Amino acid sequence: MRRLKHLFDNNQKWAARTTEAAPDFFLKLSKQQSPQYLWIGCADSRVPANQIVDLLPGEIFVHRNIANVVVHTDLNCLSVIQYAVEVLKVKHIIVCGHYGCGGIKAALESREHGLIDNWLRHIKDVYRFHQQKIEALENETERFKLLCELNVIEQVANVCHTTIVQKAWKEGRQLAVHGWVYGLEDGIIKDLDVCITGLDEIAAIHRMK
Ligand code: CO
Repeated sequence: MRRLKHLFDNNQKWAARTTEAAPDFFLKLSKQQSPQYLWIGCADSRVPANQIVDLLPGEIFVHRNIANVVVHTDLNCLSVIQYAVEVLKVKHIIVCGHYGCGGIKAALESREHGLIDNWLRHIKDVYRFHQQKIEALENETERFKLLCELNVIEQVANVCHTTIVQKAWKEGRQLAVHGWVYGLEDGIIKDLDVCITGLDEIAAIHRMK
């Protein structure tokens, strides 16, 4: 109960396996990380960033929270973005949502869930921005799927509106922000084709000169 022995056993085996395949793997990584990607995803245990894109430790910088939301005042998320963009100099920021997201589902409900309702409000805002499009769909499942996608698209925009990303673009840096959605049922990622790569692709009201 206090030791979680099986996890330590797993860890020892994993470290041994990894060292066997590449003897200097940990030594090299301990000296530096230079990931090309920042992943902003859902905290859901079924959507582990590294595994679903088959990348090794050191290859992807990760931030996860309930329903992959990027809030303008979330110092945690903003600090991750700042470090990834300014220090690690990642070339891609990926916002990856997933179908069947519990956070999105809860945001679609009217009942109380406690503290998290304050977080889910951001998703209800996304619903409100696209209310007509969502309510034009008859089927609840389709509405749920659409909100999972629209939430990703909104968060891609929020990433692009940060001073951090805009500063990188103003400096002429190559930085692309992508919106993806993952299917729990088949393990397949779908590109929502909403990639943004520069200041001229964002709404004028958010563009800083
Ligand atoms: Co989720």
